[in-house]
Amino acid sequence: MSFIDSFNQLSKTPSFLRSGRMFSFHLFLFKKIAREISLKLNLKKEDKILDVGSGTGDITQYIFPCSSITLSDNAPSALFIARQKKFFCPTDFKIVDLNKKLDFPNNQFSAVICYSVIHYLDNYNSLEKLFFELIRTTSPGGRILIGDIPLRDKYEANLKHRQSRPIINFIKNIQYYIKKETTNFFYRFYKINTAPSSLVITKPLLESILKNTPEIRRFSFLKQSSSLPFSDSREDLIIEKCL
Ligand SMILES: C[S@@+](CC[C@H](N)C(=O)[O-])C[C@H]1O[C@@H](n2cnc3c(N)ncnc32)[C@H](O)[C@@H]1O
Repeated sequence: MSFIDSFNQLSKTPSFLRSGRMFSFHLFLFKKIAREISLKLNLKKEDKILDVGSGTGDITQYIFPCSSITLSDNAPSALFIARQKKFFCPTDFKIVDLNKKLDFPNNQFSAVICYSVIHYLDNYNSLEKLFFELIRTTSPGGRILIGDIPLRDKYEANLKHRQSRPIINFIKNIQYYIKKETTNFFYRFYKINTAPSSLVITKPLLESILKNTPEIRRFSFLKQSSSLPFSDSREDLIIEKCL
């Protein structure tokens, strides 16, 4: 079972499950995430946007302002669901495998979104190549948001903190346990086969890849709003391409 098989299966489940996120009680979650992405990318109405690993477009449908959006993913069932949605600007849809060279011309998009995706790549070599490809397809001065990155170093520090103060963190620990068990329950209920474990990503790893990627003007890691379900272990990375 590959990740793509899992996401094809997940796309046929209700929206609270199908992007592969752990179950959480958060009304308007997708709108909230889209708002954060738009602000962090400083989107403008003339922006041509590429969303790589867009899935079913649950977040992309709330992305604005924009001039056009290309949704791309390797799960055909997810893109099938995305095609039925309404978006704020003209859209097109493309099957892409992020482990390979992207079938887009150089300098095509002024803003690129890659949200909650990079840990599903095949290996670290693919990860390095993806950074290169995202820069290649972005226009000079364009911005890339690699978002919702599960940072293992941050997760472990947070886990250690929670375990060292079990009483103060009692509610947090219980909440986490309930989310995990509820997610597992729904996965069993919808007969979702889970893929093998994803890539371990850390900030030093990403920083070393960024150093070796040409044409990066600057980059920064940004915290997520504390109301997002995994803000204590995930961050967003903003990259600006040289002019
Ligand atoms: C957790 S979902 C995120 C979907 C969407 N970006 C969101 O945040 O709701 C991960 C998405 O990455 C896609 N994906 C994983 N590996 C991929 C690959 N090698 N090529 C293209 N898409 C991939 C999956 O099909 C899935 O739709």
